Amino acid sequence: MKVLIAQPIPTAGIDLLKRHYDVLESDHVLGREELITAIGDKDALVCAMHKIDAEVINAGKNLKIISKLAVGYDDIDIKFAGERGIMVTNAPGVLTQTVSELVFAHILALARRLPEADHYVRAGNFKQWSFDLMVGGEIKGKTLGIIGFGAIGQRLVPMAKGFGLKVVYSNQQGEIPEFENDADVKYATKDELLKVADFVVLLVSLTVETKHLITARELALMKTTAFLINLARGPVVNEADLVRALQDKTIAGAGLDVFEFEPNVSAELLAMPNTILTPHIGSATVEARAELSLKAARNVVDTLEGRGCENIVNREYLRTE
Ligand code: GLV
Repeated sequence: MKVLIAQPIPTAGIDLLKRHYDVLESDHVLGREELITAIGDKDALVCAMHKIDAEVINAGKNLKIISKLAVGYDDIDIKFAGERGIMVTNAPGVLTQTVSELVFAHILALARRLPEADHYVRAGNFKQWSFDLMVGGEIKGKTLGIIGFGAIGQRLVPMAKGFGLKVVYSNQQGEIPEFENDADVKYATKDELLKVADFVVLLVSLTVETKHLITARELALMKTTAFLINLARGPVVNEADLVRALQDKTIAGAGLDVFEFEPNVSAELLAMPNTILTPHIGSATVEARAELSLKAARNVVDTLEGRGCENIVNREYLRTE
């Protein structure tokens, strides 16, 4: 059988796939037309960042599985794929630690104004130490608000406790029994959370319900001293509303790893000192990327060999004949 890997990925997964199949691995991120041509006779597609819509799916005449090297799969038309009998899989679990660590990198960098401080030194402004130079805030005793309390949100809890942060979470699924008796972890509605949190971290999947979960109304509920951190998907936040809140100083700052119109970033955000902007690097560690590659490859092998795969995300739409 034939597998297309639509962009360079770590070798672990490629080696596994090559032991079983005829693999075409692209040495660059395939452009849309290249993808449509290359997918024609392939049984499996391994991809990380392509928009996989009906046109791409229809071009895959033999396609049986689309294996995404990520947790989020909002850029794949999973319903259309399912209706054509094509399984879509994702790779949860392997990036939980890595993404959680980036959340804390953003929290600490915002609290201690690291980008501003770094620019200050590089610009040659550091002439003299002074008591009021780049003064930030401790995070100990503050409240971390987590919106979307899945594996990554829950992994933040021990880290938060280590730093002496209290945790409030809101979740579409409601309260999580495991945390019911944990005095440092409280369940709240989204609005309650926004009012009390010093750091609001977004970790929800992008769906019709979560698009623009954060707009001017939600930002207005936040404390003026609070920071918004988005490691979920850009469209979860109305970016124009966020820019306005930052300009009007109704919140203190933002840490953004994803953007509404990614990879475009609004000029206003680029100009703001109280933001940290990273280029969608949530899963970007050597460890997580190797595991992602391996997991995506295993998903392909398990599916094509008919062993069943626990990471199929479009079961509900799968046409079974
Ligand atoms: C990365 O953004 C992912 O969804 O894994």
